[in-house]
This record gives sequence, structure tokens and C-alpha cells, in this order.
Amino acid sequence: MARLVVTGGMGFIGSCFVRRRLAAGKDEVVVVDKLTYAGNPNNLKEYKDDRNLTFVQGDVCDRKLMDRVTKSADALVHFAAETHVDRSILEAGDFVRTDVMGTWSVLEASRKNELDRVLIISTDEVYGEAPGRPSTELDPLMPKSPYAASKAGADRLTFSYFTTYGLPVVISRCANNFGPYQHPEKLIPLFVTNALEDTPLPVYGTGTNTRDWVHVEDHCAALDLLLKADRVEGETFNVGASAERSILQIGEAILEALAKPKSLLQRVPDRPGHVVRHAVDWTKLRDRTGWMPKTTFEIGLPETIDWYRANEWWWRPIRAGAFRDYYEVQYHGRRKPSARG
Ligand code: NAD
Ligand code: TYD
Repeated sequence: MARLVVTGGMGFIGSCFVRRRLAAGKDEVVVVDKLTYAGNPNNLKEYKDDRNLTFVQGDVCDRKLMDRVTKSADALVHFAAETHVDRSILEAGDFVRTDVMGTWSVLEASRKNELDRVLIISTDEVYGEAPGRPSTELDPLMPKSPYAASKAGADRLTFSYFTTYGLPVVISRCANNFGPYQHPEKLIPLFVTNALEDTPLPVYGTGTNTRDWVHVEDHCAALDLLLKADRVEGETFNVGASAERSILQIGEAILEALAKPKSLLQRVPDRPGHVVRHAVDWTKLRDRTGWMPKTTFEIGLPETIDWYRANEWWWRPIRAGAFRDYYEVQYHGRRKPSARG
């Protein structure tokens, strides 16, 4: 049995990864999660009594804690991060702290306890725009938001731990994920839950900006492969699905699936620094591991919509809580941020 530490395992992607590993029954999993507004024990509800799961509530920035939990671990997968671009525009400090300093703390603990593999979850946002063609792993990093810049710092710090200390790291840069258990602040769950409540769907700017959409299960399948692949230490892998869609295309598809009127789409002021196009070239991952995405957007989107429809118990409490205050500031108090903040 491998002993695996998973940071951020109560979030959207981390919990999907943990569910898969526990279902396979091959690992002892220790989840370290601070339970910020984005961390949700309901994401691992069905495994709460699983004897192969240990949950430690704590901050990845806590060096002592990270030393302790990695002491007898074989490998670590680092998902924990502040993840929402809009929140990073409102207040960047937590992003620098958790995404940069938290990753440093994770790397130090992994080095001290000589882990066999450290998989760091970066993001395609580190590239900034992909104007002419999908970004490759060799493209420069030109992050455009405080979130993306913090992740870029963590991404390159990770690489430096390979070149400097020989820490066996692997870095993944996935495109936008979608699927069950995604926090309703993100585009697809926000649009679905707003539509279910007959509330307008806020479309930033022209609505023509595009993202590549990867099903969360496909992303986690790629991470399973990267965790065990041979001769990948120090390397970076893009994860994509070549399923580019614009905000408007997604909004229209959701409204059609829910038989709601198109008039619910409502233009709102654009996000500052809004990336026009994120898209990645994922041939390296395919060629080196054989990975291919399995769930197309055409199949995955209606399934995801159905999941939110069937699981109001999961999202209604989130939307009823502090999320309301965030929504008010983000969507009703929107203004252009000044240089002085
Ligand atoms: P999420 O916001 O749903 O979950 C983040 C989790 O990290 C939460 O459980 C939260 O409680 C925890 N956390 C935050 N700060 C912490 C801290 N200081 N200490 C311990 N735990 C802390 O995020 P997600 O969408 O699941 O993303 C997971 C990872 O994948 C992130 O590193 C993100 O940058 C990356 N990523 C996300 C996407 C996407 O589309 N969602 C795409 C590519 C990469
Ligand atoms: P988001 O889910 O925040 O992911 P990211 O910014 O990391 O790609 O946003 C995806 C796209 O949807 C992005 O182009 C911004 C847009 N968007 C809206 O138009 N309205 C919204 O309310 C949100 C949250 C996002």
C-alpha cells in the first residue's frame, strides 16, 4: 500500500482524485486541507469512514504540519491553492501566501522527508494568452492575473527544487476543468445554478473569450498516470481536451439544456486582464503516457448539469452562506480596480 499525501483534497479536483484513489483501494490517503470557503467535507462524504482515509485540517503554509504529515509518505499530490481569478483581482494576498509560500512549504517538507514523487498541480493559466496556437510546455510564462502569477511562481519554484536539490517533482498544467462538486463561483456551476434559480447569467465583456474544457475525471486519470510514470522527474505536462468553447456558447448550451430563456444571459463589465484564449497542446502527455480524454464536452456538460439538478443538497448551502456577500461585491459592486487598490 502506498502512502499518499493529498493537499487540497476537500476541493473540487482534489476530492475527485481522492475518491478515485480510495475506490481503487491501493493507497492510504492523508488529506491536508485548511477548509477555506472552497473546501467542503461533503465532497468526501461517502468516504468519511474509510479506514484508508485520514483527514488533517490544516494550512499547507504550516511548515511543522507539512513535515509531520509527510514523514512516512511515499508521494504527495499538491492541489491546495486559492483558485478563483476574480477573487485574486479583489484581494491578491491570500493567493501569494497559499499558492507561492504554501508550495514552498510543501516542497521543503517533501525534500526533508525524501519523498519518491511530488506531483504539483499547476495550471494552463501560467501561459497567459494562447493567441495563434495552443500553448506548449516550452512557451514563456506570461500570467495575466494575480492567481495565474502566483501559480507561475509556484510552478517555477517547483522546477528549481528539481534542478537544485534533485527533488523528484512532476508538474501538470491543465486547462479549465468541469464536472460534479465544482464550487458555484466558477463559470459552469455558476451558470447552471443561476439558471436553476432563474437568476441572470453574468457574461463578462463580449462573451467571446474561450477556454479548453477538460472533464475532472479525465484530469485525474492523467494525474494517476503522471504519479507512476517512469523518467518524468523535473518535467512539465499540459493536460487539455481540445474542446474550446466561448462563454456565450456555454451559456446558451446550459440554458437550452434547462429549457430556460436566452434572455437570462446578461452582459456585465469585463474582467480586468481577461485572458481572451487559453488552450494547450497536450501531445507530450499523450505520447509519453498514452493518456487521452474520454468524456467529450457534448456528453460531459449535460451530465454535469444533471448532477447539479440532482444534488441541490450540495450547492444550496454554499450559495446561501458567505457566497452571497461575495456575489454582491463581485457582481453588483463591480468597478474597474484603480492602480492604488
Ligand atoms: P478548489 O478551490 O475547488 O479547492 C482548493 C482546495 O484547497 C480547497 O479544499 C481549500 O480548502 C484548499 N486550500 C486552500 N488554501 C489552503 C491552504 N492554505 N492550506 C490547505 N488547504 C488549502 O480548487 P480546484 O479547482 O480543485 O483546483 C485544485 C488545483 O488545481 C489548484 O492548484 C488549481 O490551481 C489547479 N487547477 C485548477 C483548474 C480548474 O479548472 N479548476 C485547472 C487547472 C489547474
Ligand atoms: P472561470 O470559471 O472563472 O475560470 P478561469 O477564469 O480560470 O478560466 O471563468 C471561465 C470563463 O468564464 C472566463 O473567460 C471568465 C468567464 N466568466 C464569465 O463570463 N462570467 C462569470 O460570472 C464567471 C465566473 C466567468
